[in-house]
Amino acid sequence: MAEEKPRQFVGSVEFKKGLEGAITNESAISYVDGANGKLIYRGYSIDDLCAGGGGYEETAYLLLNGNLPTQAELDLFNADLALRRSIPQEAKDLIVQIANKCHPMSTLRTAVSLLGCLNPREFEVTVENDYDIALTLTAQFPTLVAAIQRARRGEFLIEPDVTKGLSEDFLRMMTGETPDARTVEVMDMALIIHAEHGMNASTFSSMVTNSSLTDFYSSIVAGIGSLKGPLHGGANEATLRTFQEIGDPATTEDWFAAAKEKKVKVMGFGHRVYKAYDPRARLFDPIAREFAERAGTSHLYEIAKKLEALVVADLGGKGIFPNVDFFSGIIYDAMGIDTDMFTPIFAVPRIAGWSARILEYLPENRLFRPRAVYIGDLESQYTPIAERG
Ligand code: ACO
Repeated sequence: MAEEKPRQFVGSVEFKKGLEGAITNESAISYVDGANGKLIYRGYSIDDLCAGGGGYEETAYLLLNGNLPTQAELDLFNADLALRRSIPQEAKDLIVQIANKCHPMSTLRTAVSLLGCLNPREFEVTVENDYDIALTLTAQFPTLVAAIQRARRGEFLIEPDVTKGLSEDFLRMMTGETPDARTVEVMDMALIIHAEHGMNASTFSSMVTNSSLTDFYSSIVAGIGSLKGPLHGGANEATLRTFQEIGDPATTEDWFAAAKEKKVKVMGFGHRVYKAYDPRARLFDPIAREFAERAGTSHLYEIAKKLEALVVADLGGKGIFPNVDFFSGIIYDAMGIDTDMFTPIFAVPRIAGWSARILEYLPENRLFRPRAVYIGDLESQYTPIAERG
């Protein structure tokens, strides 16, 4: 047995790895009801927001402003976002230069950093200025991500069209084609259900960063960096790659047996808070089926359902069920979007959630500064470098 290291502060400190169960602050933005599999933004269920007809812009307004808009307020908000959608030439040039050299999340992270450098009010940390930047970034994220998709394929970039809604324009700028109404509707729903999700890793990263009263862009860059990881937003592309690796529904059982043998986590399953079915996966399931049928990729959906049955039978007792990243890739893939682009698409609406959280915390800001239990030595004898063996 490994020798137990002496711990400093033992007795006065209890902790769980990964800050499990730790409370960071009070918030009125969203509630993840992990036991019952419900997700609520400022009191409203995501099911109602998806069905309500106000689109992603309504959800972004709700998250950023705290209440549902009237029609007049929403019209004004939509017009404002549309006018802010274009990106500076420097950002386009940067994207064209690097998009085919790195992962699109790295390009997005770098482009947002550049946008900060270009804003002369970058260092003005007030709720008003940060709100203004939040609105601009909420409007610009679709343009940035669409530009990244096109640049990495060597295609010319497409300018925003202010007459179109955000989801439609996003798809149009990405593909170069006018999307059909159903595709717009589904993208809109995808943006709504990815917009906000409690104190997840990327939200916490951006809030920790912002709590030093650094500039808003740096905080968003931190969020993008965290979202990119395969245990968080990066799981959507890893999940589709799993389905592709399995390849044939008939081999799903063998694949899962081998994964269990190797003790690897199955991407798209499990969640720190949900111990029931993730409501976002529940909403996406029938749409993944519909879009896979449309695209002739039903074998991927079949693999997903087989894998779901196997994992839930084996690990459901531990509270492991499909999460939001399980079905989304099948849908985006059927829309003709590159697999590497799935996580940037996740980031497109999450800017609203990150921003809302940062803006809520700023007036009562206190630096995040937790501690670790020190298990290292306390009285090591220093040896001059010349005397070390
Ligand atoms: N496949 C197999 N087993 C799993 C999985 C999985 N996907 N997720 C958790 N487990 C098991 C662990 O092996 C562990 O088992 P043990 O107690 O026998 O050691 C137990 O469940 C608890 O797992 P943790 O990793 O400690 O749970 P945690 O709350 O830290 O992790 C996480 C949550 C990171 C999402 C985890 O479930 C995971 O890695 N899932 C796969 C990646 C993924 O899909 N991420 C997207 C999450 S949603 C989002 O961020 C948008």
